[in-house]
Amino acid sequence: ARTVRRNGDGVVTVGGMPVTALAEEFGTPAYFLDEEDFRARCRAWAHAFGPDADVFYAGKAFLSKAVVKWLKEEGLNLDVCSGGELATALAAGMPAERIAFHGNNKSAAEITRAVTAGVGRIVLDSFQEIARVAHIARELGVRQPVQIRVTVGVEAHTHEFIATAHEDQKFGIAVADGSAAEAVRRALGHDSLELLGVHSHIGSQIFDMAGFEVSAKRVVRLLAAVRDEHGVELPEIDLGGGLGIAYTSSDDPREPHEIAKALHEIVARECESAGLRAPRISVEPGRAIVGPTAFTLYEVGTIKPLEGLRTYVSVDGGMSDNIRTALYDAEYAVTLVSRVSDAEPMLVRVVGKHCESGDIVVKDAFLPADLAPGDLLAVPATGAYCRSMASNYNHALRPPVVAVRDGQARVIVRRETEEDLLRLDLG
Ligand code: LLP
Repeated sequence: ARTVRRNGDGVVTVGGMPVTALAEEFGTPAYFLDEEDFRARCRAWAHAFGPDADVFYAGKAFLSKAVVKWLKEEGLNLDVCSGGELATALAAGMPAERIAFHGNNKSAAEITRAVTAGVGRIVLDSFQEIARVAHIARELGVRQPVQIRVTVGVEAHTHEFIATAHEDQKFGIAVADGSAAEAVRRALGHDSLELLGVHSHIGSQIFDMAGFEVSAKRVVRLLAAVRDEHGVELPEIDLGGGLGIAYTSSDDPREPHEIAKALHEIVARECESAGLRAPRISVEPGRAIVGPTAFTLYEVGTIKPLEGLRTYVSVDGGMSDNIRTALYDAEYAVTLVSRVSDAEPMLVRVVGKHCESGDIVVKDAFLPADLAPGDLLAVPATGAYCRSMASNYNHALRPPVVAVRDGQARVIVRRETEEDLLRLDLG
Protein backbone atom coordinates (compact mmCIF):
# COMPACT_ATOMS: atom_id res chain seq x y z
CA ALA A 1 0.00 0.00 0.00
CA ARG A 2 1.14 3.55 -0.69
CA THR A 3 1.03 4.70 2.90
CA VAL A 4 3.42 2.10 4.34
CA ARG A 5 6.25 3.65 6.40
CA ARG A 6 8.35 2.75 9.45
CA ASN A 7 8.11 4.70 12.69
CA GLY A 8 11.00 5.52 15.05
CA ASP A 9 10.95 1.99 16.52
CA GLY A 10 11.21 0.42 13.09
CA VAL A 11 7.60 -0.72 13.25
CA VAL A 12 5.83 -0.44 9.91
CA THR A 13 2.85 1.89 9.97
CA VAL A 14 -0.09 1.75 7.57
CA GLY A 15 -2.26 4.79 7.13
CA GLY A 16 -0.55 6.14 10.26
CA MET A 17 -1.21 2.99 12.35
CA PRO A 18 1.63 0.73 13.58
CA VAL A 19 1.20 -2.90 12.49
CA THR A 20 1.82 -4.05 16.06
CA ALA A 21 -1.29 -2.13 17.13
CA LEU A 22 -3.23 -3.52 14.17
CA ALA A 23 -2.19 -7.07 15.07
CA GLU A 24 -3.19 -6.45 18.66
CA GLU A 25 -6.60 -5.12 17.73
CA PHE A 26 -7.54 -7.38 14.82
CA GLY A 27 -5.38 -10.47 15.33
CA THR A 28 -3.42 -12.38 12.70
CA PRO A 29 -3.58 -13.53 10.02
CA ALA A 30 -5.47 -10.59 8.59
CA TYR A 31 -5.62 -8.62 5.37
CA PHE A 32 -5.17 -4.85 5.67
CA LEU A 33 -6.42 -2.79 2.77
CA ASP A 34 -5.56 0.84 2.09
CA GLU A 35 -8.91 2.35 1.16
CA GLU A 36 -7.47 5.58 -0.20
CA ASP A 37 -5.14 3.61 -2.49
CA PHE A 38 -8.12 1.58 -3.77
CA ARG A 39 -10.09 4.73 -4.48
CA ALA A 40 -7.10 6.41 -6.15
CA ARG A 41 -6.65 3.42 -8.46
CA CYS A 42 -10.33 3.54 -9.41
CA ARG A 43 -9.96 7.21 -10.26
CA ALA A 44 -6.75 6.58 -12.23
CA TRP A 45 -8.50 3.97 -14.40
CA ALA A 46 -11.59 6.11 -14.93
CA HIS A 47 -9.46 9.13 -15.78
CA ALA A 48 -7.14 7.17 -18.10
CA PHE A 49 -10.03 5.80 -20.16
CA GLY A 50 -12.04 9.00 -20.13
CA PRO A 51 -15.73 9.73 -20.62
CA ASP A 52 -16.06 7.69 -23.83
CA ALA A 53 -15.19 4.41 -22.12
CA ASP A 54 -16.36 2.38 -19.14
CA VAL A 55 -14.31 0.73 -16.43
CA PHE A 56 -15.80 -2.38 -14.83
CA TYR A 57 -14.02 -3.57 -11.69
CA ALA A 58 -13.74 -7.39 -11.79
CA GLY A 59 -15.35 -8.44 -8.53
CA LYS A 60 -13.77 -11.89 -8.58
CA ALA A 61 -10.50 -10.28 -7.44
CA PHE A 62 -12.12 -9.22 -4.17
CA LEU A 63 -15.68 -8.18 -3.48
CA SER A 64 -17.45 -6.97 -0.38
CA LYS A 65 -20.19 -4.46 0.35
CA ALA A 66 -17.63 -1.78 1.25
CA VAL A 67 -15.86 -2.34 -2.08
CA VAL A 68 -19.16 -1.94 -3.92
CA LYS A 69 -19.77 1.33 -2.10
CA TRP A 70 -16.31 2.65 -3.04
CA LEU A 71 -16.85 1.67 -6.68
CA LYS A 72 -20.20 3.40 -6.67
CA GLU A 73 -18.71 6.57 -5.20
CA GLU A 74 -15.74 6.57 -7.59
CA GLY A 75 -17.95 6.08 -10.66
CA LEU A 76 -16.83 2.59 -11.62
CA ASN A 77 -19.01 -0.24 -12.87
CA LEU A 78 -18.84 -3.82 -11.67
CA ASP A 79 -18.28 -7.17 -13.34
CA VAL A 80 -19.76 -10.12 -11.45
CA CYS A 81 -19.47 -13.78 -12.42
CA SER A 82 -21.80 -15.63 -10.08
CA GLY A 83 -25.11 -15.33 -8.29
CA GLY A 84 -23.19 -14.72 -5.06
CA GLU A 85 -21.26 -11.77 -6.47
CA LEU A 86 -24.47 -10.42 -8.00
CA ALA A 87 -26.23 -10.71 -4.64
CA THR A 88 -23.38 -8.80 -2.93
CA ALA A 89 -23.47 -6.07 -5.57
CA LEU A 90 -27.23 -5.63 -5.26
CA ALA A 91 -27.20 -5.85 -1.46
CA ALA A 92 -24.70 -2.98 -1.38
CA GLY A 93 -26.84 -0.89 -3.69
CA MET A 94 -24.89 -1.00 -6.94
CA PRO A 95 -27.34 0.22 -9.62
CA ALA A 96 -28.14 -2.85 -11.72
CA GLU A 97 -27.47 -1.04 -14.99
CA ARG A 98 -23.82 -0.64 -13.90
CA ILE A 99 -23.40 -4.42 -13.47
CA ALA A 100 -22.10 -6.84 -16.11
CA PHE A 101 -22.81 -10.53 -15.56
CA HIS A 102 -20.20 -13.06 -16.75
CA GLY A 103 -19.70 -16.79 -16.56
CA ASN A 104 -19.50 -19.83 -18.82
CA ASN A 105 -22.32 -21.71 -17.12
CA LYS A 106 -24.78 -19.36 -15.48
CA SER A 107 -27.74 -21.21 -14.04
CA ALA A 108 -31.31 -20.43 -15.08
CA ALA A 109 -31.88 -19.06 -11.57
CA GLU A 110 -28.86 -16.75 -11.87
CA ILE A 111 -29.96 -15.52 -15.30
CA THR A 112 -33.50 -14.93 -14.05
CA ARG A 113 -32.20 -12.95 -11.09
CA ALA A 114 -29.93 -10.86 -13.33
CA VAL A 115 -32.64 -10.12 -15.91
CA THR A 116 -35.18 -9.32 -13.19
CA ALA A 117 -32.76 -6.99 -11.45
CA GLY A 118 -32.09 -5.25 -14.77
CA VAL A 119 -28.33 -5.76 -15.11
CA GLY A 120 -26.73 -3.55 -17.74
CA ARG A 121 -25.33 -6.47 -19.69
CA ILE A 122 -25.11 -10.22 -19.65
CA VAL A 123 -22.02 -11.56 -21.38
CA LEU A 124 -23.08 -14.62 -23.37
CA ASP A 125 -20.57 -17.42 -23.47
CA SER A 126 -22.08 -20.22 -25.59
CA PHE A 127 -24.78 -20.99 -28.14
CA GLN A 128 -26.92 -22.63 -25.45
CA GLU A 129 -26.65 -19.52 -23.35
CA ILE A 130 -27.77 -17.25 -26.19
CA ALA A 131 -30.94 -19.33 -26.45
CA ARG A 132 -31.33 -19.63 -22.68
CA VAL A 133 -31.02 -15.91 -21.92
CA ALA A 134 -33.23 -15.06 -24.91
CA HIS A 135 -35.89 -17.44 -23.61
CA ILE A 136 -35.78 -16.17 -20.01
CA ALA A 137 -35.85 -12.53 -21.11
CA ARG A 138 -38.80 -13.22 -23.41
CA GLU A 139 -40.72 -14.94 -20.59
CA LEU A 140 -40.04 -11.94 -18.36
CA GLY A 141 -41.01 -9.50 -21.09
CA VAL A 142 -37.59 -7.86 -21.09
CA ARG A 143 -35.27 -6.86 -23.93
CA GLN A 144 -31.98 -7.80 -22.25
CA PRO A 145 -28.75 -6.00 -23.25
CA VAL A 146 -26.01 -8.55 -23.97
CA GLN A 147 -22.49 -8.90 -25.27
CA ILE A 148 -20.96 -12.03 -26.80
CA ARG A 149 -17.71 -13.31 -25.32
CA VAL A 150 -15.43 -14.24 -28.18
CA THR A 151 -12.03 -15.92 -28.24
CA VAL A 152 -9.70 -14.09 -30.56
CA GLY A 153 -6.89 -16.65 -30.59
CA VAL A 154 -4.65 -14.67 -28.26
CA GLU A 155 -3.44 -15.93 -24.95
CA ALA A 156 -1.33 -13.70 -22.78
CA HIS A 157 0.34 -14.28 -19.45
CA THR A 158 2.86 -12.00 -17.85
CA HIS A 159 5.63 -11.24 -20.34
CA GLU A 160 4.41 -13.39 -23.16
CA PHE A 161 1.51 -13.58 -25.50
CA ILE A 162 0.75 -16.14 -28.16
CA ALA A 163 -1.36 -15.12 -31.12
CA THR A 164 -2.04 -18.51 -32.61
CA ALA A 165 -4.95 -20.86 -32.07
CA HIS A 166 -5.56 -20.76 -28.35
CA GLU A 167 -9.18 -21.70 -28.65
CA ASP A 168 -8.69 -24.86 -26.59
CA GLN A 169 -10.30 -23.52 -23.42
CA LYS A 170 -13.75 -23.32 -21.95
CA PHE A 171 -14.51 -19.60 -22.34
CA GLY A 172 -16.07 -17.75 -25.22
CA ILE A 173 -16.91 -18.46 -28.82
CA ALA A 174 -14.12 -18.67 -31.39
CA VAL A 175 -13.70 -15.98 -34.04
CA ALA A 176 -11.34 -17.96 -36.28
CA ASP A 177 -13.71 -20.73 -37.37
CA GLY A 178 -16.71 -18.46 -37.89
CA SER A 179 -18.48 -19.50 -34.67
CA ALA A 180 -18.48 -15.94 -33.32
CA ALA A 181 -20.12 -14.66 -36.53
CA GLU A 182 -22.76 -17.37 -36.14
CA ALA A 183 -23.31 -16.35 -32.51
CA VAL A 184 -23.89 -12.75 -33.62
CA ARG A 185 -26.37 -14.00 -36.24
CA ARG A 186 -28.30 -15.92 -33.59
CA ALA A 187 -28.26 -13.11 -31.02
CA LEU A 188 -29.52 -10.62 -33.61
CA GLY A 189 -32.30 -13.08 -34.40
CA HIS A 190 -33.82 -12.81 -30.91
CA ASP A 191 -36.12 -9.86 -30.23
CA SER A 192 -35.62 -10.35 -26.50
CA LEU A 193 -31.87 -9.64 -26.81
CA GLU A 194 -30.29 -6.27 -27.46
CA LEU A 195 -26.83 -7.07 -28.81
CA LEU A 196 -24.48 -4.33 -27.60
CA GLY A 197 -21.23 -5.77 -28.85
CA VAL A 198 -18.48 -8.30 -28.28
CA HIS A 199 -16.19 -9.06 -25.40
CA SER A 200 -12.65 -10.44 -25.28
CA HIS A 201 -10.52 -11.32 -22.24
CA ILE A 202 -7.09 -12.74 -23.05
CA GLY A 203 -5.49 -13.64 -19.73
CA SER A 204 -4.14 -12.31 -16.48
CA GLN A 205 -1.06 -10.70 -14.92
CA ILE A 206 -0.07 -9.33 -18.36
CA PHE A 207 2.75 -6.82 -18.87
CA ASP A 208 3.01 -6.93 -22.63
CA MET A 209 0.65 -4.56 -24.49
CA ALA A 210 1.00 -6.52 -27.74
CA GLY A 211 -1.55 -9.17 -26.76
CA PHE A 212 -4.18 -6.51 -26.02
CA GLU A 213 -3.46 -4.84 -29.33
CA VAL A 214 -3.90 -8.04 -31.35
CA SER A 215 -7.09 -8.77 -29.45
CA ALA A 216 -8.48 -5.25 -30.05
CA LYS A 217 -7.65 -5.50 -33.74
CA ARG A 218 -9.42 -8.85 -34.13
CA VAL A 219 -12.48 -7.63 -32.22
CA VAL A 220 -12.80 -4.53 -34.43
CA ARG A 221 -12.46 -6.69 -37.54
CA LEU A 222 -15.29 -8.85 -36.27
CA LEU A 223 -17.41 -5.70 -35.87
CA ALA A 224 -16.60 -4.78 -39.47
CA ALA A 225 -17.64 -8.26 -40.64
CA VAL A 226 -20.91 -7.90 -38.69
CA ARG A 227 -21.56 -4.54 -40.36
CA ASP A 228 -20.87 -6.07 -43.80
CA GLU A 229 -23.19 -9.01 -43.20
CA HIS A 230 -26.04 -7.41 -41.24
CA GLY A 231 -25.71 -3.69 -41.90
CA VAL A 232 -25.49 -3.19 -38.14
CA GLU A 233 -22.68 -1.34 -36.35
CA LEU A 234 -22.49 -2.82 -32.85
CA PRO A 235 -21.90 0.05 -30.43
CA GLU A 236 -19.58 -1.56 -27.83
CA ILE A 237 -16.47 -3.65 -27.35
CA ASP A 238 -15.07 -4.90 -24.07
CA LEU A 239 -11.39 -5.79 -23.95
CA GLY A 240 -11.43 -7.57 -20.59
CA GLY A 241 -9.02 -7.30 -17.70
CA GLY A 242 -5.61 -8.79 -17.10
CA LEU A 243 -3.19 -5.95 -16.49
CA GLY A 244 -0.32 -7.21 -14.31
CA ILE A 245 0.90 -5.80 -10.99
CA ALA A 246 4.21 -5.91 -9.15
CA TYR A 247 4.35 -8.86 -6.75
CA THR A 248 8.12 -8.66 -6.44
CA SER A 249 10.64 -6.03 -7.42
CA SER A 250 11.36 -7.79 -10.74
CA ASP A 251 7.83 -7.09 -12.04
CA ASP A 252 7.42 -3.93 -14.12
CA PRO A 253 3.71 -3.21 -14.57
CA ARG A 254 2.14 -0.87 -17.14
CA GLU A 255 0.08 2.05 -15.89
CA PRO A 256 -3.65 2.46 -16.70
CA HIS A 257 -2.94 5.43 -18.98
CA GLU A 258 -0.52 3.32 -21.05
CA ILE A 259 -3.10 0.63 -21.66
CA ALA A 260 -5.82 3.22 -22.29
CA LYS A 261 -3.67 5.01 -24.85
CA ALA A 262 -2.66 1.79 -26.61
CA LEU A 263 -6.23 0.51 -26.79
CA HIS A 264 -7.80 3.80 -27.86
CA GLU A 265 -5.18 4.17 -30.61
CA ILE A 266 -5.46 0.69 -32.02
CA VAL A 267 -9.26 0.76 -31.97
CA ALA A 268 -9.33 4.18 -33.65
CA ARG A 269 -6.86 3.07 -36.32
CA GLU A 270 -8.66 -0.21 -37.08
CA CYS A 271 -12.05 1.50 -37.16
CA GLU A 272 -10.80 4.14 -39.54
CA SER A 273 -9.39 1.60 -41.95
CA ALA A 274 -12.63 -0.41 -41.79
CA GLY A 275 -14.80 2.70 -42.10
CA LEU A 276 -16.52 1.99 -38.78
CA ARG A 277 -17.73 4.44 -36.17
CA ALA A 278 -15.50 3.90 -33.11
CA PRO A 279 -17.37 1.73 -30.58
CA ARG A 280 -17.52 2.56 -26.89
CA ILE A 281 -14.68 0.69 -25.16
CA SER A 282 -14.89 -0.98 -21.79
CA VAL A 283 -12.29 -2.81 -19.71
CA GLU A 284 -12.44 -5.02 -16.61
CA PRO A 285 -9.42 -4.67 -14.35
CA GLY A 286 -9.54 -6.59 -11.09
CA ARG A 287 -6.03 -7.32 -9.88
CA ALA A 288 -4.63 -3.96 -11.06
CA ILE A 289 -7.09 -2.09 -8.85
CA VAL A 290 -7.24 -4.13 -5.66
CA GLY A 291 -4.06 -6.24 -5.78
CA PRO A 292 -1.52 -3.67 -4.62
CA THR A 293 -3.84 -2.09 -2.04
CA ALA A 294 -3.62 -4.83 0.60
CA PHE A 295 -1.10 -6.94 2.47
CA THR A 296 -1.45 -9.96 4.70
CA LEU A 297 -0.10 -9.75 8.24
CA TYR A 298 1.08 -13.03 9.80
CA GLU A 299 2.71 -13.94 13.09
CA VAL A 300 5.71 -16.26 13.10
CA GLY A 301 5.05 -19.42 15.12
CA THR A 302 7.92 -21.85 14.60
CA ILE A 303 11.30 -21.67 12.89
CA LYS A 304 13.02 -24.80 11.66
CA PRO A 305 16.54 -24.54 10.22
CA LEU A 306 17.43 -27.44 7.90
CA GLU A 307 21.19 -27.79 7.76
CA GLY A 308 22.58 -26.97 4.31
CA LEU A 309 19.11 -26.38 2.85
CA ARG A 310 17.06 -23.51 4.15
CA THR A 311 15.05 -22.39 7.15
CA TYR A 312 11.34 -23.06 7.29
CA VAL A 313 9.41 -20.23 8.91
CA SER A 314 5.84 -21.18 9.79
CA VAL A 315 3.19 -18.51 10.04
CA ASP A 316 -0.34 -18.65 11.41
CA GLY A 317 -2.09 -18.77 8.00
CA GLY A 318 -1.11 -20.31 4.69
CA MET A 319 -2.77 -21.82 1.64
CA SER A 320 -6.23 -21.20 3.11
CA ASP A 321 -5.69 -17.42 2.91
CA ASN A 322 -3.36 -17.40 -0.11
CA ILE A 323 -3.66 -20.34 -2.48
CA ARG A 324 -1.78 -18.59 -5.29
CA THR A 325 1.70 -19.84 -4.46
CA ALA A 326 0.54 -23.47 -4.33
CA LEU A 327 -1.78 -23.12 -7.33
CA TYR A 328 0.21 -20.99 -9.75
CA ASP A 329 3.72 -21.03 -8.36
CA ALA A 330 3.09 -17.32 -7.77
CA GLU A 331 5.90 -15.22 -6.34
CA TYR A 332 5.52 -12.96 -3.33
CA ALA A 333 7.82 -10.87 -1.21
CA VAL A 334 7.84 -10.91 2.60
CA THR A 335 9.12 -8.39 5.14
CA LEU A 336 9.66 -8.31 8.88
CA VAL A 337 7.46 -5.42 9.95
CA SER A 338 7.31 -5.44 13.75
CA ARG A 339 10.90 -4.23 14.27
CA VAL A 340 14.14 -3.53 12.43
CA SER A 341 16.94 -6.04 12.59
CA ASP A 342 20.65 -5.71 11.76
CA ALA A 343 21.10 -9.47 11.69
CA GLU A 344 22.48 -11.18 8.58
CA PRO A 345 19.85 -12.25 6.06
CA MET A 346 19.04 -15.97 5.92
CA LEU A 347 17.34 -17.89 3.13
CA VAL A 348 13.89 -18.93 4.25
CA ARG A 349 10.74 -20.52 2.96
CA VAL A 350 7.65 -19.04 4.56
CA VAL A 351 5.06 -21.78 5.01
CA GLY A 352 1.61 -22.03 6.51
CA LYS A 353 0.11 -24.25 9.17
CA HIS A 354 -1.81 -26.64 6.93
CA CYS A 355 -1.33 -30.38 6.66
CA GLU A 356 0.21 -30.24 3.23
CA SER A 357 3.82 -29.82 2.16
CA GLY A 358 2.78 -27.58 -0.75
CA ASP A 359 1.41 -25.10 1.79
CA ILE A 360 3.92 -22.40 0.88
CA VAL A 361 3.31 -18.66 1.19
CA VAL A 362 6.68 -17.41 -0.11
CA LYS A 363 8.98 -19.95 -1.74
CA ASP A 364 12.30 -18.16 -1.39
CA ALA A 365 12.95 -15.08 0.67
CA PHE A 366 15.62 -13.55 2.85
CA LEU A 367 14.70 -12.64 6.40
CA PRO A 368 16.98 -11.60 9.28
CA ALA A 369 18.72 -14.52 11.01
CA ASP A 370 17.44 -13.38 14.41
CA LEU A 371 13.82 -13.91 13.36
CA ALA A 372 11.86 -15.22 16.32
CA PRO A 373 8.41 -16.54 17.18
CA GLY A 374 6.07 -13.60 17.70
CA ASP A 375 7.64 -11.49 14.95
CA LEU A 376 5.15 -10.08 12.45
CA LEU A 377 5.61 -10.64 8.73
CA ALA A 378 3.83 -8.78 5.96
CA VAL A 379 3.25 -10.21 2.49
CA PRO A 380 2.37 -7.32 0.15
CA ALA A 381 0.11 -7.29 -2.91
CA THR A 382 -2.42 -9.77 -1.55
CA GLY A 383 -5.50 -7.66 -2.31
CA ALA A 384 -6.51 -9.70 -5.36
CA TYR A 385 -7.42 -13.38 -5.47
CA CYS A 386 -6.39 -14.10 -1.87
CA ARG A 387 -9.42 -13.44 0.33
CA SER A 388 -11.64 -14.18 -2.67
CA MET A 389 -10.02 -17.60 -3.12
CA ALA A 390 -9.66 -18.34 0.59
CA SER A 391 -10.89 -21.69 1.89
CA ASN A 392 -11.69 -23.44 5.12
CA TYR A 393 -9.15 -26.20 4.53
CA ASN A 394 -8.36 -27.94 7.82
CA HIS A 395 -11.31 -25.93 9.13
CA ALA A 396 -9.23 -22.79 9.04
CA LEU A 397 -11.17 -19.65 9.88
CA ARG A 398 -10.92 -17.22 7.00
CA PRO A 399 -9.16 -13.99 8.02
CA PRO A 400 -10.81 -10.58 8.20
CA VAL A 401 -10.29 -7.73 5.78
CA VAL A 402 -9.57 -4.48 7.56
CA ALA A 403 -9.77 -1.21 5.66
CA VAL A 404 -7.37 1.47 6.83
CA ARG A 405 -7.90 5.13 6.02
CA ASP A 406 -6.78 8.39 7.67
CA GLY A 407 -5.46 6.60 10.75
CA GLN A 408 -8.73 4.72 11.22
CA ALA A 409 -9.11 0.98 10.78
CA ARG A 410 -12.44 -0.66 10.11
CA VAL A 411 -13.28 -4.34 9.64
CA ILE A 412 -15.09 -4.69 6.30
CA VAL A 413 -15.20 -8.50 6.29
CA ARG A 414 -15.02 -10.00 9.75
CA ARG A 415 -12.95 -13.00 10.78
CA GLU A 416 -14.78 -16.30 10.61
CA THR A 417 -15.54 -17.99 13.88
CA GLU A 418 -15.91 -21.60 14.91
CA GLU A 419 -19.64 -20.88 15.23
CA ASP A 420 -19.68 -19.86 11.55
CA LEU A 421 -18.18 -23.23 10.63
CA LEU A 422 -20.42 -25.22 12.93
CA ARG A 423 -23.55 -23.42 11.77
CA LEU A 424 -23.27 -25.15 8.40
CA ASP A 425 -22.71 -28.55 9.95
CA LEU A 426 -26.10 -30.07 10.71
CA GLY A 427 -24.76 -33.20 12.40
N1 LLP B 1 -12.73 -10.06 -16.98
C1 LLP B 1 -12.86 -11.39 -17.15
C2 LLP B 1 -13.84 -11.88 -18.11
C3 LLP B 1 -12.07 -12.28 -16.42
O1 LLP B 1 -12.20 -13.58 -16.61
C4 LLP B 1 -11.12 -11.79 -15.49
C5 LLP B 1 -10.30 -12.68 -14.70
C6 LLP B 1 -11.03 -10.39 -15.32
C7 LLP B 1 -11.84 -9.56 -16.09
C8 LLP B 1 -10.10 -9.74 -14.34
O2 LLP B 1 -8.76 -10.04 -14.59
P1 LLP B 1 -7.60 -9.28 -13.78
O3 LLP B 1 -7.59 -7.85 -14.24
O4 LLP B 1 -7.91 -9.39 -12.34
O5 LLP B 1 -6.37 -10.04 -14.15
N2 LLP B 1 -7.29 -16.43 -9.85
C9 LLP B 1 -6.25 -16.02 -10.78
C10 LLP B 1 -6.75 -15.07 -11.81
C11 LLP B 1 -7.93 -15.61 -12.56
C12 LLP B 1 -8.56 -14.50 -13.33
C13 LLP B 1 -9.78 -14.96 -14.02
N3 LLP B 1 -10.43 -13.95 -14.77
C14 LLP B 1 -5.07 -15.45 -10.01
O6 LLP B 1 -5.09 -15.51 -8.80
O7 LLP B 1 -4.10 -15.01 -10.61
